Amino acid sequence: MDWQTLEKQCMACTCCGLCRTRTNVVFGVGNREADIMFVGEGPGEQEDLQGVPFVGPAGKLLDDMLSIIDLDRTCCYIANIVKCRPPRNRDPQEDEQDACFGYLKEQIELVRPKIIVCLGRIAAQRLIRPDFRITREHGAWFQGGQVWLTAIYHPSALLRDLSKRPETFDDLLQIRDRLAVLREMGEKEPS
Ligand code: URA
Repeated sequence: MDWQTLEKQCMACTCCGLCRTRTNVVFGVGNREADIMFVGEGPGEQEDLQGVPFVGPAGKLLDDMLSIIDLDRTCCYIANIVKCRPPRNRDPQEDEQDACFGYLKEQIELVRPKIIVCLGRIAAQRLIRPDFRITREHGAWFQGGQVWLTAIYHPSALLRDLSKRPETFDDLLQIRDRLAVLREMGEKEPS
């Protein structure tokens, strides 16, 4: 599938009940050839209104987190597990995640990142392992075929609980270092 077809299908999606309460589908944003992809759980109020992921308070913090590791939205791709806002920002239900997951899978296949960073438990449980424990396993690395996966605390959790920030800072530095190594290895690959 190409980007245009995928985005068109996603924007018109009625595969789960979230389509009835959404203002906008929040497809994804950033560089479609990025080496690194960030995946959140689902749009909040501002994202629903603007149709862009991570533009509310958690998004501002995510931008700061990216800048710590010399990234911005022009050099990474940002998406969510579900593309439509769950009412009152509740967790997306299993059936809603199932209905939406195909879009993210296609996005991952099109971007072909070297690293996927799961933002919070919901994304980690979907992309890494169903019983993933974010408190114990944030910052750990998992290989999934050609891609390395890790999870960090969701920016919303970091807004609520400042004590989680130092650990996240360490996780971010690990991400920066691994990305540098993977990029260097990529450059050495024969073309
Ligand atoms: N939280 C998310 O998980 N995703 C967004 O796009 C915004 C807030």
